[in-house]
Amino acid sequence: MNRSETYIEDFPVQGFQQDLINWYQEHQRDLPWRLNQDPYRVWVSEIMLQQTRVDTVIPYFNRFLSLFPTLTDLAEADEEKVLKAWEGLGYYSRVRNLQTAVREVAEQYGGTIPDTADEISKLKGVGPYTAGAILSIAYGVPEPAVDGNVMRVLSRILLIYEDIGKAKTRMLFEDAVRKLISKEDPSSFNQALMELGALICTPKSPACLICPVQEHCRAFDQGRQKELPVKEKKIKIRHVDMAALILRNQEGKYLIHKRPKEGLLANLWEFPNVPVQKRGVSEKEDLKVFIEAEWGISAAVGDQVSNIEHVFSHLKWNIQLFEGQCSHEAMDAADLKWVTLEEMESYPFPVSHQKIIKLAKEVTA
Ligand code: ADE
Repeated sequence: MNRSETYIEDFPVQGFQQDLINWYQEHQRDLPWRLNQDPYRVWVSEIMLQQTRVDTVIPYFNRFLSLFPTLTDLAEADEEKVLKAWEGLGYYSRVRNLQTAVREVAEQYGGTIPDTADEISKLKGVGPYTAGAILSIAYGVPEPAVDGNVMRVLSRILLIYEDIGKAKTRMLFEDAVRKLISKEDPSSFNQALMELGALICTPKSPACLICPVQEHCRAFDQGRQKELPVKEKKIKIRHVDMAALILRNQEGKYLIHKRPKEGLLANLWEFPNVPVQKRGVSEKEDLKVFIEAEWGISAAVGDQVSNIEHVFSHLKWNIQLFEGQCSHEAMDAADLKWVTLEEMESYPFPVSHQKIIKLAKEVTA
């Protein structure tokens, strides 16, 4: 007997499926990616939803689909335009991988997203969750789509006290879903688990009293729903201090720089910045020396104008912001441009540097 069988033994699978799916049919939210089963739309939505809340995703999804209505449109689009459409959603490698993967589908599969776990899992950025979500929702294949929300729901229903931070635990839940999933309607089953996690079986105060599967829930039966899921690991957030510069020339243009094509926030644009090594040394001077050495631009750097904080999943940036003037003419390179505030709007910036744009506008208003 494998581990998931011990949890499913004596579990009323059919009754659970029925109660769950009936509730979903009646109460599911009207979400734009549920309009039809186009696998491309399902794919885009699932990638957007991976680290981002539904409310945030909706307007991005609608805009993205109007800019790139089909897989071919996305495959053929300019990366910068794609990043711009993603601007503000964060975790930008998601959309770079998505574009790489749709290009692969265009070239290797004639534009048709594959409908087998083997093929779809080979695509860039398509992990077990995304593969299962696309296969079940778009193609009706009974594959598990297990993310953190689904683990929370099932850890309570099946009373599973395993650390959901571990890869092995996710596999246990996937095994369990293979045994639980409706073979007639895998799409509704998986989406119902997600919907239950979003609307009823929420992290802090689950609405057990109105839960459609309350009678099947072992945690509720024992009054232990608040102990679950078990999440042991607490990640440490690394702090990074930096100084950034709003540099304006005599034509009223600002210097912006394109980040390298690899690493954090790859290919996004930013204001010139340097890491702050030691507290107490002059960040102002560091900035001046850096842009001179790196790009041959000499500038007068003024006082600090603000301080910006931005938190990523593992990282916190603290940016001391300075303003500066220089008399350089606008000489552009591929990764360095002088632009007006208006022109800046067509470049993709990470959220932290969008905050700087806002400040630059206020400073010059
Ligand atoms: N979260 C992840 N996938 C989802 C979906 N398809 N609908 C609602 N919430 C989700």
